[in-house]
Amino acid sequence: MIDLHSHILPGVDDGAADMEESAAILKFMQQKGLKKIAATPHYPLYKEKDYKKMIGEKLGQLREKAKSENIDIEILSGSEILIEKKLPWLLNDNKLLTINNTDYLLLETHPILLPDYFPEIIHDIQAMGFKIIIAHPERYNFIQKDPTLLYDWVELYDLKLMLNSSSIFGLHGKRAQNTAEKLLDIGLCHLMSSDTHGIDKRPFTLAKGLNKAEKIRKGSKKIFKANAKAVLANDKVESFEIKEKRNSIFEKIFSFII
Ligand SMILES: [Fe+2]
Repeated sequence: MIDLHSHILPGVDDGAADMEESAAILKFMQQKGLKKIAATPHYPLYKEKDYKKMIGEKLGQLREKAKSENIDIEILSGSEILIEKKLPWLLNDNKLLTINNTDYLLLETHPILLPDYFPEIIHDIQAMGFKIIIAHPERYNFIQKDPTLLYDWVELYDLKLMLNSSSIFGLHGKRAQNTAEKLLDIGLCHLMSSDTHGIDKRPFTLAKGLNKAEKIRKGSKKIFKANAKAVLANDKVESFEIKEKRNSIFEKIFSFII
């Protein structure tokens, strides 16, 4: 099992508070069978002048700690990057981190309103050769209201969608849960990760999330596992067969949660 989205670096963002909590999270993950994890702290961190340097140091410290505690999980680099206008410039200046130094970028956007420059920024970043994964689309208010937007994101923009395992357990509310479960059922998603923030607060749920996903959409566990592996190898991810085409039952299914 591989997890591509987590906030396990100590004292960096709203994730693990300190090294002890980071180690406790990793031990719990190991018990659940995790083998590899990408540490994906938020970008930007407003007070941090040299993000990459600081994250690199924290990664090194956490790897040392894991080794000293006999935790056999490979900890990989990454970042969860908020979409903003200057991303192409930041990427051009090599200021940001991809997942495991591949071409895959993990991006998130404002939860309430999609910025009007979204298509332009996506286009510019892809033109630079990056592949884009969107974190937890089910949590965005505008997606919950109009999930058909995701057809454009997948079919026109070639974005890859990563669900939070925590969403299908209702940890982000009923709307996010309903949206995640329907996206999974229909097949409008590519990856599942934990987005772990702590040992108690937003804990690791990927192992049980993959099992629950399998019950909602048969074959999903295998696809999610294969796709996480593919991202780390910078290979293509596979897509589900989409059950419902746009302007179909899909919209009706969502109308009850609006
Ligand atoms: Fe996150």
